[in-house]
Amino acid sequence: MNLLIHHIKQLIRATDQPGNKLAGKEMRNLPVLKNAYVWIKDGIIHDWGSMNRCPELNIQKLDASGRVVMPAFCDSHTHLVYSGSREREYVDKIRGLSYEEIARRGGGINQSALRLRNVSEEQLFEESMERVNEIISQGTGAVEIKSGYGLDTSSELKMLRVIRRIKEASPLTIRSTFLGAHAVPIEFKGQQKTYVDKVINEMLPEVAGEGLADFVDVFCDRGFFTTEETGRILEAAAKYGLRPKIHANELDFSGGIQVGVQYHALSVDHLECTGEEEIASLLKSDTMPTLLPGAAFFLNMKWPPARKMIDAGLPVALASDYNPGSAPSGNMQFILSLAGIALKMLPEEAIHAATLNGAYAMGVEGELGNITRGKKANLLITARIPGYEFLSYAFGSDLVSSVIINGKLVSNKQI
Ligand code: NIG
Ligand code: FE
Repeated sequence: MNLLIHHIKQLIRATDQPGNKLAGKEMRNLPVLKNAYVWIKDGIIHDWGSMNRCPELNIQKLDASGRVVMPAFCDSHTHLVYSGSREREYVDKIRGLSYEEIARRGGGINQSALRLRNVSEEQLFEESMERVNEIISQGTGAVEIKSGYGLDTSSELKMLRVIRRIKEASPLTIRSTFLGAHAVPIEFKGQQKTYVDKVINEMLPEVAGEGLADFVDVFCDRGFFTTEETGRILEAAAKYGLRPKIHANELDFSGGIQVGVQYHALSVDHLECTGEEEIASLLKSDTMPTLLPGAAFFLNMKWPPARKMIDAGLPVALASDYNPGSAPSGNMQFILSLAGIALKMLPEEAIHAATLNGAYAMGVEGELGNITRGKKANLLITARIPGYEFLSYAFGSDLVSSVIINGKLVSNKQI
């Protein structure tokens, strides 16, 4: 399918340099072209430029006057395959219980596991597809999805098979992550080592045998898995070629960042507890620090020190963490707002973090994240707005009008 988007008010992140990630001061330099066009051919960005050299083409056209066009969001950290919801815990939190207290009482991740084990693969697929369609309409074009609400072998496999079905059924670019070590399941309470052995000796071989995961994850934090347990799991996963993307330093200075770097993680995620040592370790690595401000917002916790990290020269990616317990939203436009308001990231930095750096954090930067000739045509077209800064400024307004994935118009709200 061929498509010409013309009279674009601001074309964002159109560049000849495909790049792989942006760090430190580079994150401020956002390429913006005024009065522009993009020509899409066979699902790929064929050409782009300024309207005064727009070719005469007899193909489908979309007028983007007054609108901003930018790469669709690359949301590199979600748990969007789950069943049901946990608003009761949300109310408990309002009443004063902490996330960790809720987890200790058998709520939290184990609550979702209980529910997921009892639903069919079909129902899980249907519930998850609703979320997939929701995030597409909110401007996401690529997403990483984790397992971790099964916590037994057959339920973890069920989750990962659902992710595989979503890969087939939806136009999104999807990467899947095996997160068997998300929490110790209730039936293994007090036997954490035995559960870790099971993750390594039983789950990993089956997951890898069926080719169900692109990456491996561990919740390496206080009250969950230790750095030693994380190291054992990552070492075993490396034998199957699974690169880590881990949950680290959300609840404490857990050493998770350093373990991630040691095992060559593609990303370490959350990072609310990040100091000089952690920053120094990340600076020597290829690991993408990934911030999930939706979770810090929802749990009312401290914010990750994004400013310090970028000012020290690090790259940063932003993701939604879409999950039923700590971030029941996959809305990346809201994540841009939180990045500005709470993390003190400039709109330019936030847009880079939610596109190219997010693509890097899921290993798809070669095909996504920029508007570059030869890359996949995954774009979003905003409502009529004054400029790209408005997207993060006007929090709560839905400003994503149309979404194009693989060159096809997959959502068109005409706002
Ligand atoms: O990324 N931190 C660990 N896991 C999820 C929360 C999952 C849940 O509470 O269901 C997170 O925040
Ligand atoms: Fe998470």
